[in-house]
Amino acid sequence: MTSSSTRNPFTAEESPAVGVTLENLSKQFGKNIVLKDISLQIEPGEIFVLMGPSGSGKSVLLKHIVGLEAPTSGRVIVDSQDAADPETREEVKMALVFQAGALFNSLSVYDNLALYLREHRLGNEAAIREKVMHALQILSLESTGGKFPSELSGGMRKRVAIARALVMEPQLMLYDEPTSELDPVMAATISEIIASLKHEYHVTSIVVSHDRDLALNIADRIGLLMDGELITVASPAELKTNTDPRVIDFLNPKIDLHQPRFKKLET
Ligand SMILES: Nc1ncnc2c1ncn2[C@@H]1O[C@H](COP(=O)(O)OP(=O)(O)OP(=O)(O)O)[C@@H](O)[C@H]1O
Ligand SMILES: [Mg+2]
Repeated sequence: MTSSSTRNPFTAEESPAVGVTLENLSKQFGKNIVLKDISLQIEPGEIFVLMGPSGSGKSVLLKHIVGLEAPTSGRVIVDSQDAADPETREEVKMALVFQAGALFNSLSVYDNLALYLREHRLGNEAAIREKVMHALQILSLESTGGKFPSELSGGMRKRVAIARALVMEPQLMLYDEPTSELDPVMAATISEIIASLKHEYHVTSIVVSHDRDLALNIADRIGLLMDGELITVASPAELKTNTDPRVIDFLNPKIDLHQPRFKKLET
């Protein structure tokens, strides 16, 4: 329990951030080899941003970390446990923020956030209220508790999805395209929120994104996935000095990262 005056109802001290290790991870769907022999160590508390063109395997890689896909070969280790083992999901608190938010439309924002706590009987209504209100406050959503997801803007829905992940007190936060379909100002706000959660809660954050600004501004390291191969892992500063033409293309704002092959935007 913290002794600070603005008591944080989350118990970060009891749930330290966890590391993630990919050991020669390969994944094949039929004849389609989607991930090719990927080895990577993500440190506890790190913000790791995974980028790459559409179809390069980013979401599939994320699904391996949360145990929604199992490797064809190799292993994924989360906090020294195999991610494919169902027990890992019970022992390590992970929260995946889906691209579309995946909120329950029939529930208010407040009830969307309270659902996990109620289902897992994590405290009485007063304790649940404290956690829900704290998460709403962190994401500047205090006034939306009584609203339904359909009444919110896209940016608000993304923030609600993050707030809902936060009430789970995760040790590992995974985001799939948290800033897609947002205007640049809201995208920057979401990036700042992801960065601030690292500092406030010391969670490990793995962010799949097409957003260069997000990556260059908040990542400790960026991984670049192309055709299922992790072609480089580097800090933003290191990436800018990389002479691989694929990396140079990747950093070029005229290249549209949403395409399966990097393509120059019409100017
Ligand atoms: N369950 C599945 N069964 C068969 N193929 C799949 C499955 N999931 C993904 N794939 C294939 O794996 C490849 C990578 O898909 P993935 O969703 O990881 O791409 P991505 O990098 O996240 O792309 P985007 O940026 O468009 O979201 C694609 O060719 C896709 O068709
Ligand atoms: Mg994807």
